[in-house]
Amino acid sequence: MPQEPTPRQHTLTRSVAVMNQKGGVGKTTTTVNLAAGVARLGRSTLIVDLDPQAHASLHLGVDAEADGAPTIYDLLLDPEGPIDGAVRDARPNLSIIPAVVDLAAAETELADAPNRHGRLTRVLERLAGRFEFVFIDCPPSLGLLTLNALGASREALAPMQAHFLALQGLGKLFETVRLVGRGVNPRLRISGVVLCMHEETTNLAREVVADLHAFFEGARAEDVPWKSARVYTPPIRRNIKLAESPSFGKTIFEYAPGAPGAQDYAALAETFVREWDAMLARRAGGAGGSAAPEIVVPERADAARAEA
Ligand SMILES: Nc1ncnc2c1ncn2[C@@H]1O[C@H](COP(=O)(O)OP(=O)(O)O)[C@@H](O)[C@H]1O
Ligand SMILES: [Mg+2]
Repeated sequence: MPQEPTPRQHTLTRSVAVMNQKGGVGKTTTTVNLAAGVARLGRSTLIVDLDPQAHASLHLGVDAEADGAPTIYDLLLDPEGPIDGAVRDARPNLSIIPAVVDLAAAETELADAPNRHGRLTRVLERLAGRFEFVFIDCPPSLGLLTLNALGASREALAPMQAHFLALQGLGKLFETVRLVGRGVNPRLRISGVVLCMHEETTNLAREVVADLHAFFEGARAEDVPWKSARVYTPPIRRNIKLAESPSFGKTIFEYAPGAPGAQDYAALAETFVREWDAMLARRAGGAGGSAAPEIVVPERADAARAEA
């Protein structure tokens, strides 16, 4: 049941780059439905569509190509430009800055521009306090747009499928995050992976999930951005309703509220909000609030549940 918008100002924002250089792994589906799930829990949420294919915008029924209002393309070219028309109310508690195909040209148009990696950071600075959660839907590459997303986020979240070579693909992604962390955004962390189109019953999926857990556990003592990363629960099961809903411009909660896809994204949104609230509570009660807020290492119970 959607709740009333929360008008309060947020001193901290959970900004999440939903990234994977591979296409078709579930980035857009996760951005839209996780964000919608968080909004339904009463949290003010913004989606930034950073993919020139504009799938996240269309998934919410926003066609910026047709209405001519400013988009993320305009804001990346001029981060000080008019911002209010670009931020659209899409649902209760859920806004979006949409994309258009022109965004593909931004990569070259900004190639020699000053602060070309920090443009989205500036845009989100201008919106500080308005949103508690920001989800950025990245294109399937590690180019300038994704680098802008990583520069502007506190976390990177990687949707993936439990396939052979999945871990290999993650390696490159993690290395990119590490490099961005060393350069423009030292607070950037990898919060974890979301398993999409998941088929829990296959041995392959089980093996990949076990490998992921082992990989993350092995990094707990290291000084790497994925030292606190987790395999989020629940995994998102393969569900045809999730594939159908975008063409109707609807979230899964609107299109098929009783479907497994709606259950999974609702539960994932709860995990996400609970984790954030716990971090805020620790910070409020913690040592003077001087240290950068950390994401805690997840409990092993999560892993047990994922395997159950
Ligand atoms: N859990 C799922 N079950 C069934 N189809 C899915 C699921 N998640 C995503 N899809 C479909 O798979 C395709 C790729 O997903 P998408 O989110 O667009 O990936 P990406 O943004 O990474 O390219 C889309 O057609 C989408 O509707
Ligand atoms: Mg996509």
